[in-house]
Amino acid sequence: MLFRLFSLLLFKVHVVCRTAAILLPDLYEASISDLQAGLQNGDFDSVELVSAYFARIEEVNLKGPQLRAVLEINPSALGQAKALDAERAIRGPRTKLHGIPVLLKDSIGTASTEGLNSTAGSFSLLKSVVPEDSTVVKKLRQAGAIILGKASMSEWAQFRGDVAAGWSGRGGQSTNAYFLGADPCGSSSGSAIATSIGLTAVSLGTETSGSITCPSSNNNVVGIKPTVGLTSRSGVIPISEHQDTVGPIARSVEDAAIVLSVIAGIDARDNFTSTQPQPISDFMKALDVNGLKGARLGIPRRAFLNESLTGNDPFVNVAFQMAVNVMREMGAVIVDPADLPSTEDPENLNTVLEAESLVEATDFKIQLNQYLSNLPQIPTGVHSLADVINFNDKNPNLEEPVNFTDHLVEAQETNGFNQAYFEALTTGRELAATNGIDAALAAHDLDALILPAPGFAFIPSAVAGYPIVTVPLDFYPDNVTTKSVGPLTVYPAPGVPLGLCFIGTAFSEVELIRLAFAFEQKTKTRLKRKAVSAAVPKAQLDVVGRV
Ligand SMILES: *[C@@H]1O[C@H](CO)[C@@H](O)[C@H](O)[C@H]1NC(C)=O
Ligand SMILES: *[C@@H]1O[C@H](CO)[C@@H](O)[C@H](O)[C@H]1NC(C)=O
Ligand SMILES: *[C@@H]1O[C@H](CO)[C@@H](O)[C@H](O)[C@H]1NC(C)=O
Ligand SMILES: *[C@@H]1O[C@H](CO)[C@@H](O)[C@H](O)[C@H]1NC(C)=O
Ligand SMILES: *[C@@H]1O[C@H](CO)[C@@H](O)[C@H](O)[C@H]1NC(C)=O
Repeated sequence: MLFRLFSLLLFKVHVVCRTAAILLPDLYEASISDLQAGLQNGDFDSVELVSAYFARIEEVNLKGPQLRAVLEINPSALGQAKALDAERAIRGPRTKLHGIPVLLKDSIGTASTEGLNSTAGSFSLLKSVVPEDSTVVKKLRQAGAIILGKASMSEWAQFRGDVAAGWSGRGGQSTNAYFLGADPCGSSSGSAIATSIGLTAVSLGTETSGSITCPSSNNNVVGIKPTVGLTSRSGVIPISEHQDTVGPIARSVEDAAIVLSVIAGIDARDNFTSTQPQPISDFMKALDVNGLKGARLGIPRRAFLNESLTGNDPFVNVAFQMAVNVMREMGAVIVDPADLPSTEDPENLNTVLEAESLVEATDFKIQLNQYLSNLPQIPTGVHSLADVINFNDKNPNLEEPVNFTDHLVEAQETNGFNQAYFEALTTGRELAATNGIDAALAAHDLDALILPAPGFAFIPSAVAGYPIVTVPLDFYPDNVTTKSVGPLTVYPAPGVPLGLCFIGTAFSEVELIRLAFAFEQKTKTRLKRKAVSAAVPKAQLDVVGRV
């Protein structure tokens, strides 16, 4: 009897909850599957979801803590949502992304007929006419995703020069939500900040050298930096075709894997994608909580402990060691050390960095000029890198922060695909891939290398074009000493997150996702600390008055 009464009571509470809309997911953390379930259930629709994200952006982006994570919201997002709601009612969802809002880094081009600008953060590209969506955006739309808007970024994907990460002329200085004024890292700063506090369901970033990995680490989110050639760069404002790659930034490995499944694939407009194995792997099959069991993981200690590369921060070292212990308990075999043979000569690290700089600077000039020449109209009259440099000099109040060094000028001075360039490509590949990551993996029969994200972790993968999956690892303690890293930013700082990197060979995303998912599910670090309360938006799904 007591039991019956109890269950009756529970039933009543449940009914009350439904009408009071308590079952709605909290958008700070809501996963794609939470949102998809609510949409499918009719608890809310995509119009309400987009409105809720817009309200959250409104609260914290330029007002309050002024995170400056979002550059533009999409004037047609609500229209897209309405059409996708209607389609769902008739035919059901197209994919797991049907009706799910996605925020795009500002360098990821969208057809200008929609109203959004695509500028890499620079005023020089404002109102430039982008004839069509980039391939990844076409794929998102085909899957039924809603383009929510454009995220701020380090201008020209941090290729602008010696300016603080997360700064752009158009966006100003974006900031970390875990400590206002802390470095959000870049260049996919806004994508990571916005995702970290639920201003969007998920976002896309791009990485050339650390630009998904580092902001994911600093903002407590999951980033997948895919192998160069897994996702098309067609329509994306470039740095270097040898290193650029588009990838998801999400609050969970599962969400990131869902987005990667949609955007990966061969594209005739980006011939690097022809190198990817077919058929394309099913990333969702990698979501296995036992994924660390029997896995062989190596620690490239030598680079990790190099003070000048990582700071050799005792706090980071302890957090990393605890993660290693967890993985060992979960059945992973840890090989420590498992160094990249090429790092035996410390000078090689500098050689790799120099090779990378030359390749990036040379590619940037050629590929940016190519990108600009494909735009039918650019109202600022900028048609080449030289024009961009002139534009900046003529508009210093918009584009030239105090004391910066102009990297664009260095790129302009490169001399095309000459012998030094091809040598740099070969040297980089040899040191980072052949005698670097691949040699370390082969020497110990490893599935992946692991490193804390701050510091060295992204460098060999950048030059090799290899993948990284980053997941939350820890948060800097409250008594950490802050250091200035820009006119408006500090790092580290109390409560600032840091991530753990799983590093693999070309097209090993399935393996890396498996390892990262198992670690994430075991540790569930993300919610152990939240953003500062001023940066946590209060707006939630509002379904009051729905019929
Ligand atoms: C694109 O930039 C133009 C010029 O500043 C502006 O009028 C327009 O509103 C921008 N688009 C969006 C969606 O914000
Ligand atoms: C892509 O095309 C360029 C130009 O035709 C060629 O040089 C390059 O080798 C191709 N790359 C791949 C991976 O097919
Ligand atoms: C640490 O890395 C720097 C930069 O590559 C290098 O110059 C230095 O020799 C390295 N130090 C050690 C102890 O390996
Ligand atoms: C610019 O550089 C000068 C010389 O190094 C320095 O004195 C000044 O404080 C710097 N200004 C800013 C805003 O960082
Ligand atoms: C911060 O606090 C921890 C734990 O109480 C302590 O071990 C560490 O020495 C402190 N660090 C600083 C810089 O005060």
